[in-house]
This record gives sequence, structure tokens and C-alpha cells, in this order.
Amino acid sequence: MSAQPFPVQALAGLRVLALGQALSALIGGPLAGAQVELAGLERLTALGFADADLIIIDADAWDPAALDLIVKALAACPAPPPTLLVGARLPTSVVRNLLRLERADILDAPYSDENFAATVAALVCEKTPAVAPAGAAVARCWAITGAVGGSGATTLAIEIATALCTRQSPAKGKSVCLIDLNFADGAAAAYLGSKPAMKLADFSQSVERLDVAMLQAFVTPVTPQLDLLAAARDPAAFEAVSREAVLRVLEVSCESYDWVILDMPRHRRSWSVEALGGCDEVLVVSELTVPALIAARCLSDEIDRALGSDRKPRIVLNRLAGRMFGPAPSMAEAEKALQRKAEAGVSSDWEAAAASVNLGGPIATHRPKSKIVRDVHALVERLAAEPARRSAAAQKAA
Ligand SMILES: Nc1ncnc2c1ncn2[C@@H]1O[C@H](COP(=O)(O)OP(=O)(O)O)[C@@H](O)[C@H]1O
Ligand SMILES: [Mg+2]
Repeated sequence: MSAQPFPVQALAGLRVLALGQALSALIGGPLAGAQVELAGLERLTALGFADADLIIIDADAWDPAALDLIVKALAACPAPPPTLLVGARLPTSVVRNLLRLERADILDAPYSDENFAATVAALVCEKTPAVAPAGAAVARCWAITGAVGGSGATTLAIEIATALCTRQSPAKGKSVCLIDLNFADGAAAAYLGSKPAMKLADFSQSVERLDVAMLQAFVTPVTPQLDLLAAARDPAAFEAVSREAVLRVLEVSCESYDWVILDMPRHRRSWSVEALGGCDEVLVVSELTVPALIAARCLSDEIDRALGSDRKPRIVLNRLAGRMFGPAPSMAEAEKALQRKAEAGVSSDWEAAAASVNLGGPIATHRPKSKIVRDVHALVERLAAEPARRSAAAQKAA
């Protein structure tokens, strides 16, 4: 959102309905010049809002159930005025319904006058673009997929996203988004001990409603730098979520974060090739068994053919053990079966992996000294240091 100071003349005569006494503090500040009416939620129920150009609601002043009713009432009207919800405790269900309005935004308290003014400006001037404008910074996006089930794709996607966070300046705030595209039975939220909040099926027929603001209603914050987009388990989800909705979420995510990590389902969906085509790296995770290595080779070839670009998927061998129990291929034998070099190996550490999923959170948090963390770090540093490979989408546009 623009941080431009709000042009004062644009507020002159603006009729603002401010619901919550604490909002009176804004009258002499960023709302100077506007005609502000301070009222309670009942004002909306009794008189409606036809006489307001902007509604500001203080979420901290009202209980979530009452807020929910009001927001639903606004959503039921054909053309509600732009609505801004502010507060230190923004109830998720209220936020989700609010952001379904044509023009609405949220602002976490505490906020600065400048931030408030810029948010109001964008809302009333309808300057908030549905998505960031063309030319806006676009994330680097890496997809992680498993050659066979259980090879460690979700584990490595989480660790890669976490390792990327450590490369970002803490002052930057949110900059990495992990997206679990296994809609039917994704495990990323469970591994992180987080609650999945993405509900894409509702938007399958109206993808244009999915914008930067709406995305925020879907994310689950994991750390100050990492957000998770994941859906609750649903066996029918792949049929219920449209291709357009998935691609739109990816597009908007790439405009909102510096890094986007996709935990991809192994089976190809109608959107898989396009999703991979938008990535600048595709990592195929395999374990060190002969069937997994053969599957990794086949899957890499399939992706390679489908993308038809010079960006070959990279194979990551997971759960390398120093001393194997029973006959297992060596790294050299593995590369022979793969008919190509592996990009990297990640050590096996069952204790660290199991402890972390049981506690809920990345291995880097619960077992920072694990060899898994060290190996993933090395992989991330190497790949991130390379210039971003141009995605198929970017190549087409050129
Ligand atoms: N390097 C590793 N060392 C030990 N256990 C691992 C490692 N990578 C993954 N695991 C474990 O293997 C199991 C399957 O991993 P998961 O990430 O769910 O695989 P996938 O997403 O490919 O199905 C999980 O129990 C996970 O904790
Ligand atoms: Mg998985």
C-alpha cells in the first residue's frame, strides 16, 4: 500500500462514520477536515449508512459476534461504502468477511497517523489496485515436490522457507510465504503446529476478488517473517478449487512476498504445469531407494518436457545416512540411477524431524544443530546466491 501522505483536500467534506469512541483521537489528526460522526454499532443497524462515504470500525470496542453481524450486514448490501477495520485484536472471521467487500481494508493497531492516512486515502480514492501494479517486485518462487510419498518434500519445503527467513532483514517483516498446494491432505500446517486458514473454493468463480488484502485473511502467521497458506483437509478440495483460483493465489502471493515456496502435490493437477512454469526453481525430493530414484528421474523428465524450458528440475536426495541399515545405494549409485547429478543431499535425522513435528515448528527452531538444518542451509545459500533463473512466464513475456 502507498505510504504517500494523504492529500488533505481529499478529506474535506468526506462523511466518515466512526464506530468506537477511541476513534475520536483521529479527528484532530489524520481525519482532520472530514465530517466525522462518532457512533456505536447500533447506528448502522438503525439508520443504515447511505449518508457515509467511509466507515471506520474499531474492532477493539466491540465483541466479535456483534462485529460479525455488522460486517455480514454490510456484505449483504449492494454498494456499501469503503470500510476500514482497525484494532489490536482483529478477529479472523470478521476480517475474512470484511475483505469480501468491494472496498475494505484492515489496519493493525498500533498504527502511525501516516499509515492510517495512507490506508484511508487508498480506500476512498479507490487507488488500491486489486493487485500490485505491473512492474511491482515479484517474488522468487521455488517449488518442492516429492518423487514418492514420504520422501520429505513437506519437511524440506518448511526448512527451506525457514532458512530463507534468516537471509532477510528482520526489519523487513513478512517476506517469505510457504504455500501448501496439497489441498486434500496437506501436512505443512500440522508440521508447523499452525491452523490452516485458506478457503479457496469460495472464490473459484470470482477469482478477481482475490487480491492482496484478501490473501491476508487466508494466511497463518508462523514467525514474524514467515506466513503459511494452507487449507484444511478436504478430500473433495481438488475438484472444488478452480485452476484460476490457484493460479491467482500464486500470482498475488508473488506480488506480496520476496520469497514464495510451494509444497507441490506429486500428482499433476490442471494448474500444476503453469504453477511450475512460474517458478524459478523446481526441486524434486527423493529418498535413497531404487524405486524413489527411478520415480525422481521420471518425474524430473516429465516436468522438464512439460515446461519445455532450459530450467531443469534439481534433484535433492533426502535422508542420507552415514551408515546404512541394509543395502542402500551410495550417492554415486544414486546418481547413476538418476542418470544425472543430484543438486544436494540432506542428512537423515529422525529424532530431529520427529521431535519438530511433534512439538510443531521447523527443525531449525527445535533442533537448530541438526544436520538437516545445516544441509538445507547450504542448499539455500547456494541456490539463492545464483541469479534468479527466469521463469517460463517471464521468458514468454520477454
Ligand atoms: N532428513 C530427514 N531425516 C529424518 N526424517 C525425515 C527427514 N526428512 C523427512 N523426514 C520424515 O519423513 C517423513 C515424511 O516426510 P514428509 O516431509 O511428510 O514427506 P512428503 O511431504 O514427501 O510426503 C516425516 O515423518 C518426516 O518427519
Ligand atoms: Mg507432503
